[in-house]
Amino acid sequence: MRYALLSDIHANLPALEAVLADVARRGVDGTYHLGDLVGYAPWPDETVRLLEAQGIAGVAGNYDSTVGLDYAHCGCRYEDARQEALSHESFEWTKAHTSGAVRASLAALPFRMDLRPLGGHTGGPKLILVHGAPTLNTLYWTEDRDDAFCLKMAEAAGARSGDLIAFGHTHLPWTREVGGIRFLNTGSVGRPKDRDPRAGYVIVEAEPAGMGVEFVRVDYDVARAADAIRASELPDEFAVYLETGGARLDPA
Ligand SMILES: [Fe+2]
Repeated sequence: MRYALLSDIHANLPALEAVLADVARRGVDGTYHLGDLVGYAPWPDETVRLLEAQGIAGVAGNYDSTVGLDYAHCGCRYEDARQEALSHESFEWTKAHTSGAVRASLAALPFRMDLRPLGGHTGGPKLILVHGAPTLNTLYWTEDRDDAFCLKMAEAAGARSGDLIAFGHTHLPWTREVGGIRFLNTGSVGRPKDRDPRAGYVIVEAEPAGMGVEFVRVDYDVARAADAIRASELPDEFAVYLETGGARLDPA
């Protein structure tokens, strides 16, 4: 079974369209999202509706659950007062420009999904899909977390050797195996932070011998997204962020 995993689209419709075209060209058995569908770009409704139109299910990112439930804060991290102000502007703009029906869809997203490529009639292996970590969708699971942290998360998730836990949230792709369990950060479709502006997603090939992981990057019309951000009341800094692949650090 081949799965396409898409995380952190963040209302970037041109990036999502390019990724879906690439997925269709390659061919997969299933496509799932790992949350953070909205925030930072001006197409929240269009992004959610396109995923729904294509039957792409997935889990709740911190941005989705906080917008959907009208929470006071998006659960994003920031490193200084300017980042905090930008983060707040984005959150308020997104809440004001997301329809009630789409907010209800965001609120209804599950926290976690499990896939069993060999079917539920066998014991495994399984792919566990979450946004941030198996305990919280706001927890940043960065590559520098040690093996003990990974195993603690695996235990919290009920993962066993041969399983895979996929997540996003940091917008930085990485993978490693600890204790026979594969940990996979899929990176970000619509707001990459690794200085590569191209949209990022992952194809997981689930074989009886193990899980193969392919990181994919796709060119998309960055200018269309950046121009739309500048034409909106969203901060212009978010356009620069897309143009530079997050070279300028600001909230995830
Ligand atoms: Fe995100």
